[in-house]
Amino acid sequence: MQKNILITGVSSGIGLDACRKFLHEGWKVMGSVRKTEDAEQLKQTFGTSFLPLVFDVQDEDAIRSSRRAVLSFCGERGLDGIINNAGYAHPGPMTELEPNELAQQLDVNVVGIMRVTNCFFDLLKSNSVKITAGRIINISSISGLFNSPFVGAYCISKHAVESMTEIYRRELYMHGIDVIAVQPGPIKTKIWGKSKGKLDRFKDSEYGDILQFADKNISDSEQNAIAVERVSNLLFKRMEKRKFSTNNIIHKGTLGFNFFRKCVPARTADSIIWKMLAKKNPKNRPI
Ligand SMILES: NC(=O)c1ccc[n+]([C@@H]2O[C@H](COP(=O)([O-])OP(=O)(O)OC[C@H]3O[C@@H](n4cnc5c(N)ncnc54)[C@H](OP(=O)(O)O)[C@@H]3O)[C@@H](O)[C@H]2O)c1
Repeated sequence: MQKNILITGVSSGIGLDACRKFLHEGWKVMGSVRKTEDAEQLKQTFGTSFLPLVFDVQDEDAIRSSRRAVLSFCGERGLDGIINNAGYAHPGPMTELEPNELAQQLDVNVVGIMRVTNCFFDLLKSNSVKITAGRIINISSISGLFNSPFVGAYCISKHAVESMTEIYRRELYMHGIDVIAVQPGPIKTKIWGKSKGKLDRFKDSEYGDILQFADKNISDSEQNAIAVERVSNLLFKRMEKRKFSTNNIIHKGTLGFNFFRKCVPARTADSIIWKMLAKKNPKNRPI
């Protein structure tokens, strides 16, 4: 019997490619988008095994309204998986951000996951058709494991995703519903283009000298980014396997990254980060 998965944020990037992968593997996929044009286009591209859902993860009523369509698409089997993928990155120095910018980042990247999970998790429970309960994968980030300056709101949101993942896993244990996070490093998607220019507004702040290279750094990261298929393949493997690790970093320099975050003392890391910034521009020195 065909398995069913619900993925949020499938208009582009990781979500879109995950739809392609799961459909290719014979699953039925429900994917959320925010615009009806995206829904129509995806329906045409993917055909009858795909059901587009239209909601913003900030809109609890819209999420709830899609439940009836999800129930009828899944049938008795219910859901085998949920991938909480929808999200965005809001860069900027903490002292320059407005509190509502942080609140918005948390509302989409963190509370959005809670809204979707709480609306649909009961469909993951085992039943007469589905012997094994389904599972949830939250798309976190290496920014959920390590705090980099000038992307604070995003790092805070992804650290919260890590914490929330563990809490849901420990609570949903009683239903046999497994919950994990995956932590991608830079992946080739539209998220990079969306971030370009967002730091221009800080050019007259005291961070102006540092941030003048922000767009170049974004382009460099984008160029070195990993193909999105790597994430989709991992997501599929994690959905299919019975038992799997809760540690799912997808990053070119995983060894170095893990060493830096686990073995380098926090104050040493602070000074290394500033030395790297000073290398790019000698004006970037702590006062
Ligand atoms: N690319 C990377 O390097 C990278 C690395 C680590 C983690 N991630 C995470 O991976 C996830 C997907 O990002 P991506 O790289 O694939 O970027 P992307 O191509 O920009 O895709 C983001 C998706 O999230 C949707 N979305 C954004 N805000 C939403 C909201 N309020 N409600 C519903 N949907 C919303 C977008 O819809 P619209 O088209 O309507 O905006 C889009 O479908 C994010 O959680 C991101 O933090 C990405």
